[in-house]
Amino acid sequence: MTLSGKTIILGVTGSIAAYKAAELASRLVQREANVNTIMTEAAMRFISPLTFRSLTGRPVVTGMFDLNSEFSIEHVSLAEAADIVVIAPATANIIAKLASGLADDILCSTVLATKSSVLIAPAMNVNMYENRITQNNLSELKSRGFIVVGPDTGRLASGEAGPGRFAGISDITGSICQVLGRKGDLAHKHIVITAGGTQESIDPVRYISNRSSGKMGYALAEAARDRGAEVTLITAPSSLIKPYGVELYSINTAQEMYQAVRDIAPRAGALIMAAAVADYRPASVAKDKIKKANSSLTLNLVNTPDILDNVKGDFVRVGFAAESEHLVENARAKLQRKNLDLIIANDITAEGSGFGADNNEVVIIGRGDAKNKLPLLPKREVADKILDEVAALLP
Ligand code: CTP
Repeated sequence: MTLSGKTIILGVTGSIAAYKAAELASRLVQREANVNTIMTEAAMRFISPLTFRSLTGRPVVTGMFDLNSEFSIEHVSLAEAADIVVIAPATANIIAKLASGLADDILCSTVLATKSSVLIAPAMNVNMYENRITQNNLSELKSRGFIVVGPDTGRLASGEAGPGRFAGISDITGSICQVLGRKGDLAHKHIVITAGGTQESIDPVRYISNRSSGKMGYALAEAARDRGAEVTLITAPSSLIKPYGVELYSINTAQEMYQAVRDIAPRAGALIMAAAVADYRPASVAKDKIKKANSSLTLNLVNTPDILDNVKGDFVRVGFAAESEHLVENARAKLQRKNLDLIIANDITAEGSGFGADNNEVVIIGRGDAKNKLPLLPKREVADKILDEVAALLP
C-alpha cells in the first residue's frame, strides 16, 4: 500500500533493537510516507539522529527544549496532524510512562497530545517483558486503544530465548497499513481469499503441484486488509511472508482447501479463489517411499473436488481463469459454468505475467458483456482493481 500523503511520527526508544528502527523508517519512506522521528535520550546511545535525518530527509527531534527544531516547538499541533504514531522499538520504560500518562519527555508528551492511533512494538529482555508490571501496563495501553505489535519470541540480545524480540518489520508496516485503512471501503466486510498451488501427495516425500507462487492471492489479502476488510487467507504452501493482520489457514491438498472454504466462505461477503487448485490427485498415497524399481512408473490420478462448483452460500464469487488460449471465451465459459460474479482471466503465456511473476496482465470479466482489460501491472495494483469491482458487488 502506498503511504503517500500520510504523516507518521516514529518514536525510537533506548533498546538494542533501535538500529532496526532505521530499516523501518526506510521502508516507510519508500512507501512515500512523511516520517517525523522523535528519539529519546536513551535511543541516541544506540543510534545516531543523523541516521534518521538521512533516511527520512526531515529533522529529528531529540529533546523537549530543542529550539532548533520547528517540530519540537509545535509538537502539539504536529501530533494532532499525524495519521499515526509508531513507537518502535518501545522499551519497558516508555510503556510504563505511557500507561501512567507521564509527559516528561517529548515523545510521551506527543503521545498524550495526539488523537491519532498509537502503535507500539515492544522490545526488551524476556524477564522485563514477562514482569507483571509490564504486562499490566501493556493491558492498560491496549484497553485504551493502543495497538501492540509483537514482541516475537526467539533469541534475545542478552543470549536468553523467549518473548521480547522486536517484531518483524513487515509485521509493523502491515499493521500500520491495516490501521490506516480501517475506515476503507471494505470496512466490516469479510473476504475469504485462497492462494498458492495445492500439493497432492504421491508418497511420504513426493507430491504433484503447479507453478503458482501465491503472490496474487497474498497481494489480494493485503490489499483487502488495507481497505478495512476482515480477511481470511486459505493458503497452500508458499514461501511468501504471511500477511500481518489476516486470519490464516494453511492447507496442503485440494480436499483440505475445499473443507476450509466450505467451513468459512458461507459466513463471508465474498470468496476470491486465486489458488491454483490441482484438478487431479493420485488415487492412493503410498505409505512408504516409492522405490526406483522399474524403468517406468504409472500414476493413477482421480479428480479432486471443484471448490467453486460445489461450495454453497450467498456470497460474491470470484474465480481466476488460467488460460493459454482463447482467453476471454474460455474465461466466460468458466464464469457461467461455475456461476461466478466475476472471473479474472489470466493469460499464462504472456511475458512477465502470471504464475510466479510479480506482475500480472488480466482481463476482469463480469456477468453479461462487462469486461475490463488491464495493462501489465504489479500484482498489488491488480488486486486493488479486482477489489474495486468486488466492493461494487457487495451488499
Ligand atoms: N478451482 C476450484 N476447484 C478446483 C479447480 C479450480 O475451485 N478443483 C477454481 C480456481 O481456484 C479458479 C477457477 O476455479 O478460481 C478456475 O480454475 P482453472 O484451473 O483456471 O480452471 P478449471 O476449472 O480447473 O478448468 P481447466 O483446468 O480445464 O481450465
